[in-house]
Amino acid sequence: MSAITASAPGKIILFGEHAVVYGVPALAVPVTQVRALATVAEHPTAFEIDAHDIGRRYRLSDAPPNDPLALAIKLVCQRAKTYQPPSVILRLQSTIPIASGLGSGAAICAASARALATFLNTPITNTELSAIVFETEKLLHGTPSGIDNTVIAHEQPIYFVKNKLPEPFTIPKPFHLVIGDTGQPAPTKVAVGDVRAAYERDPERYTHIFNQIGALSWLARATIESGLVAELGPLMNQNQALLRQLNVSSPELETLIEAALRAGASGAKLSGGGRGGNMVALVTPETRLAVATALRQAGAHHIIETTVATQANA
Ligand code: PMV
Repeated sequence: MSAITASAPGKIILFGEHAVVYGVPALAVPVTQVRALATVAEHPTAFEIDAHDIGRRYRLSDAPPNDPLALAIKLVCQRAKTYQPPSVILRLQSTIPIASGLGSGAAICAASARALATFLNTPITNTELSAIVFETEKLLHGTPSGIDNTVIAHEQPIYFVKNKLPEPFTIPKPFHLVIGDTGQPAPTKVAVGDVRAAYERDPERYTHIFNQIGALSWLARATIESGLVAELGPLMNQNQALLRQLNVSSPELETLIEAALRAGASGAKLSGGGRGGNMVALVTPETRLAVATALRQAGAHHIIETTVATQANA
């Protein structure tokens, strides 16, 4: 059988991180110019994984028990009723920065699951793929809301409420983002655990913050759907003020956010678990370059410019 290749995009949360864990809405969009790519081809002896970018080549049978990719492979094999992993080589490549809140792990699992399922002649729907990647996210984060796997599997802008069907939404007027990476690792699990502890100490105060964040996600969706994208900036700034109250920002994130706003971004906030990882700024074609330059000067390790638009398959 000839080799099968599949890919999955990065993602960025625009509104609602952390609060989404407590049942309020969040908005996330795919970042399509960075992608994970997986190719499955026959191999003479065993199931091998070649993660070229990180210089690792190993047999599936040698993967540690809590390896997310090994779990994704196992779940696809179960679905294909192939209880013995096939003798194949899974080659991985990715341009998504690792461990920075852009969903690189989830995208690797999604691309691999898609390629392997097709190779095993059992193509899976995006919803099934999302469920497989959700299981792998649990290994990494403990109690993920499910937003990352949903956006990456569906590759569409998503209005997400935990335990509800995801709502893809249309973007009549594209908008532009500059994403800046602090270079600090983003310990999502730690940040989520700290927010949980704070919530348990003072549920009333934190529920109020979560509800305000949820209202911003709702308003942001309505704003985007009305094509009033310039009005998103102030909503992002309000969301960032509430994230500060949750104590998930960091001096490095604040430096990049301030640099972006000074250079003309109309809004900027952290994205994902916080305490490091990425921030995202709303720009226009006119301010895009100045903001990217300011972020670089302020110490961003990696910059991605992306345009958010409704996908052709939406
Ligand atoms: O750090 P990321 O990009 O995987 O985002 C985590 C988002 C949280 O809301 C903090 C957690 C979750 O499971 O939704």
